[in-house]
Amino acid sequence: MAVIYLLLLSLFCRHSLADPLWKYCNQNTKTSGGGDSVSTNIGHLLSQVVEKTERDSFATTSYGQGESRVYGLGQCRGDVNNSDCSSCIENAAKQIRLLCPIQTDARVRYEYCFLRYSKENFFGKLDTSIGLLYANVENVTDPDSFNKALGALFDRIDSKAIKLKNQGFGKGETKLSPFETLYGLVQCTRDLSPLACAQCLAIALENFVGFCSDKKGCQVIYSSCYVRYELYPFFFPLESQMSKTDNLQKLIH
Ligand SMILES: *[C@@H]1O[C@H](CO)[C@@H](O)[C@H](O)[C@H]1NC(C)=O
Ligand SMILES: *[C@@H]1O[C@H](CO)[C@@H](O)[C@H](O)[C@H]1NC(C)=O
Repeated sequence: MAVIYLLLLSLFCRHSLADPLWKYCNQNTKTSGGGDSVSTNIGHLLSQVVEKTERDSFATTSYGQGESRVYGLGQCRGDVNNSDCSSCIENAAKQIRLLCPIQTDARVRYEYCFLRYSKENFFGKLDTSIGLLYANVENVTDPDSFNKALGALFDRIDSKAIKLKNQGFGKGETKLSPFETLYGLVQCTRDLSPLACAQCLAIALENFVGFCSDKKGCQVIYSSCYVRYELYPFFFPLESQMSKTDNLQKLIH
């Protein structure tokens, strides 16, 4: 697995509707064009994934037969309400075809939702082989106490996430000082077993001592799980406006 460091400055709130946090179009997987049966099946699949995700915030489904069968997964972030979930997944389903017009293995993550399809049945399979990391450019002032608090917070929310009833989702916060609070969130795709979820989160958290080390905020985006912490509230219910921060990026591929 080659790892390339892409130290790009990017404004966090630059993301428009069309602009996912992360997209992946597997260039080794191609349909023969817009009119072929795989491409048609992807269209049908996506409308089913959207419909089910809008209902349950999560969906796995397949469409078609034999060689042209396609598998799809949709999921909204666990704290997002139905209307934000619906608009996110509807938009994702439109954008994924524009972003990956001829690929049969495609993935997009937006702030509020994740959408993926493939000709391979990937349900229940842990995948951390590719992804994207974002880190705030700014460093914390007191790394020792920050990292202690960060570790304790993620121990707590990881163990929440892997409880069956929480369906792979955990969030929480911890006061660093009277003036500063650390917010954390983790989510696995709901098709993963608690064990696979725990493994995904453990791999994601390794980046906290690597790329994210001592950063004021960081996001780890994989196909199977998503992890984020910030020194401002970013999940619902929101306590105040999200602040704009500059971020570094690292592509995993
Ligand atoms: C859903 O959350 C958004 C905030 O992102 C809010 O503006 C909207 O009113 C909420 N919708 C419902 C139906 O609660
Ligand atoms: C943060 O710390 C790293 C490593 O010590 C350093 O290279 C970088 O310049 C620092 N960033 C800022 C914005 O001070």
